[in-house]
Amino acid sequence: MILEETLQQRVPMGRVKAHSMTMNGTEAQKFDGAAGRPSLVDPFGRDISYLRVSVTDRCDFRCVYCMSENMAFLPKADVLTLEELDRLCSAFIARGVRKLRLTGGEPLVRRGIMTLVNSLSRHLHTGALDELTLTTNGSQLAKYAQEIKAAGVRRLNVSLDTLDAEKFRAITRWGSLDQVLAGIDAALAAGLKIKINAVALKGVNDDEFPNLIEWAHGRGMDLTLIEVMPLGEIGEGRLEQYLPLSIARARLAERFSLADIDYRTGGPARYVRVAETGGLLGFITPMTHNFCESCNRVRVTCTGTLYMCLGQEDAADLRKPLRASESDDLLFAAMDEAISRKPKGHDFVIDRRHRRPALARHMSATGG
Ligand SMILES: C[S@@+](CC[C@H](N)C(=O)[O-])C[C@H]1O[C@@H](n2cnc3c(N)ncnc32)[C@H](O)[C@@H]1O
Ligand code: SF4
Repeated sequence: MILEETLQQRVPMGRVKAHSMTMNGTEAQKFDGAAGRPSLVDPFGRDISYLRVSVTDRCDFRCVYCMSENMAFLPKADVLTLEELDRLCSAFIARGVRKLRLTGGEPLVRRGIMTLVNSLSRHLHTGALDELTLTTNGSQLAKYAQEIKAAGVRRLNVSLDTLDAEKFRAITRWGSLDQVLAGIDAALAAGLKIKINAVALKGVNDDEFPNLIEWAHGRGMDLTLIEVMPLGEIGEGRLEQYLPLSIARARLAERFSLADIDYRTGGPARYVRVAETGGLLGFITPMTHNFCESCNRVRVTCTGTLYMCLGQEDAADLRKPLRASESDDLLFAAMDEAISRKPKGHDFVIDRRHRRPALARHMSATGG
């Protein structure tokens, strides 16, 4: 109830037509945000229109590439409340964010998550937001799919690395394949479009890619393969897990006809169409192909820490300005200052000289 009331006061006044001004030949502020506020543009001229928010660092799985078995989770007081998360997301929307992805940890294990989803969906109704979506491991989808669809979410990313129940258990440590498959069924039945994300793990699931392609495409779902990124201490060597997707693609090309296409979802994936199935296959290759030049996104953790780049440590604390004042002025100032520091790109490396994680934080902190 409190959430609803606070939110109504913050509903944007309507989106102002995007335009830019030119002064002395250089582009100046763009007014692209809802309520006519200036949009967030980084020093390289990239419009920040995509926000990914990790709503919890907790998860009901312990995927081997993402978490160690004994993770220490954040104290509750450090984690933003649902109201605070809503306010933070709404501030970004007011400053031109058009696409919002909730992730985690596992977003659907956050208590009250549907209150947040339902309340954020008002930005879809006002037209301030083009898309509200989630990345999930699928374990809770059977429970939430209908409600998610009813909130105006059109598509979901579901992470699934294998169709082999034993392998699934080994990769996720705690997960049940049947539960995830039931979740995917429920989401498809609810009319949600699904993209499957699979992390490519050398010697673990690489033999299954053809099978995953046929299964996903056979059900009308696109599939994206992701290279393992060196985030967080996981208690196992990355080098052993890392499979360059250039190799995976070459192997797949022996079996399928892969045609490069221009299709982009605003994300870093490059897509091919698989002639035999008619479906799309994406490759996210942060290690073998740097995708930074067109980066339009930033990430916020559940503690309100803003990461301007997934692959860099530099971050800004937005929780402090958020909690310091009921007005959003301090928050906007902190956002502006942070975006002015968005780096040109990441510098991930996995090789024999770099056996430690490139970054100390786990993927579950920023949500991928
Ligand atoms: C951190 S999870 C959060 C959302 C949800 N729990 C899920 O698994 O979809 C987001 C995505 O990051 C991927 N991921 C996690 N750790 C990774 C790593 N070290 N390298 C590459 N992708 C990773 C997961 O496979 C998943 O697709
Ligand atoms: S990848 Fe997703 S499901 Fe797996 S441990 Fe990380 S947050 Fe949980």
